[in-house]
Amino acid sequence: MKDKVTIHTLKRLKQSGQKITMVTAYDATFARVLDEAGADVLLVGDSLGMVVQGHDSTLPVTLEQMVYHSTAVVRGTKRALVVGDMPFMSYQVSVEEAVRNAGRLVAEGRVGAVKLEGGAEFADVISAISRASIPVMGHLGLTPQSVHKMGGYVVQGRDEDAARKILEDAIALERAGCFSLVLEGVPLELARQITQRLSIPTIGIGAGKYCDGQVLVCYDLLGMNPDFKPKFVKRYANLHGSITEAASAYFAEVRAGTFPDEEHSFKSKPIRLVAAPEPTDLAEGSEKLGPVYGAPV
Ligand code: KIV
Repeated sequence: MKDKVTIHTLKRLKQSGQKITMVTAYDATFARVLDEAGADVLLVGDSLGMVVQGHDSTLPVTLEQMVYHSTAVVRGTKRALVVGDMPFMSYQVSVEEAVRNAGRLVAEGRVGAVKLEGGAEFADVISAISRASIPVMGHLGLTPQSVHKMGGYVVQGRDEDAARKILEDAIALERAGCFSLVLEGVPLELARQITQRLSIPTIGIGAGKYCDGQVLVCYDLLGMNPDFKPKFVKRYANLHGSITEAASAYFAEVRAGTFPDEEHSFKSKPIRLVAAPEPTDLAEGSEKLGPVYGAPV
């Protein structure tokens, strides 16, 4: 195994001009595969509200759920840095609550860093979490937890004022102590300028090719949902098709009685089935048996 990825590895990757690979994961099995495939960062994204739980936004996701999924991802990961999303309302109410909740993601969820959405208005929260020795990844541009404020999932920073505000926020987040920054749904020229201006790595999603790294939701890049194909997603597989094909073949063989066959069945010496004694016949404290038991003949 190559060395474990840390926040310092990511900084070195930016300095050497090597791109950072990041992808979401929500369970141990996917985490193991994506880690072995070479992810630098696994993000336990609150996108799980949509792709795992079936909600139409990330807003219903709770801290308990983030902790639960984080522990699973961490158990499946050997090399990648695991980052846990702070869900809606886990860091907006007060600095104190934010630090406590970030601490739960690290202490109980076992992640190596947390991510939260928002600009300069969260600088005090980011400083306080960083002061508690918890690395913070920022998230600017299209921030899904602000879906109602944005009026939908729409590209941000398209005019000069909006772009300047995002650049200023990015600078404020770096000053507040963020070790890295996700730029989501912004024009590539804005992402280029922010990436040049900051010494911390930027990770893009729908932000073009100039960021220091790239993140995608694993279900999107693997083609799990044929109905979801936004402009910024590239499908590298058609798992929806592969799973449908595999499951249909399984169902057909079960219906035809061709699975399970000899090859997938256990064998034993001939056995004689003997009726078990009634529970009342059992001596007190003796082991209870099922309705039948097998006795080798
Ligand atoms: O929740 C998530 O998956 C994310 C990525 C899209 C960056 O925040």
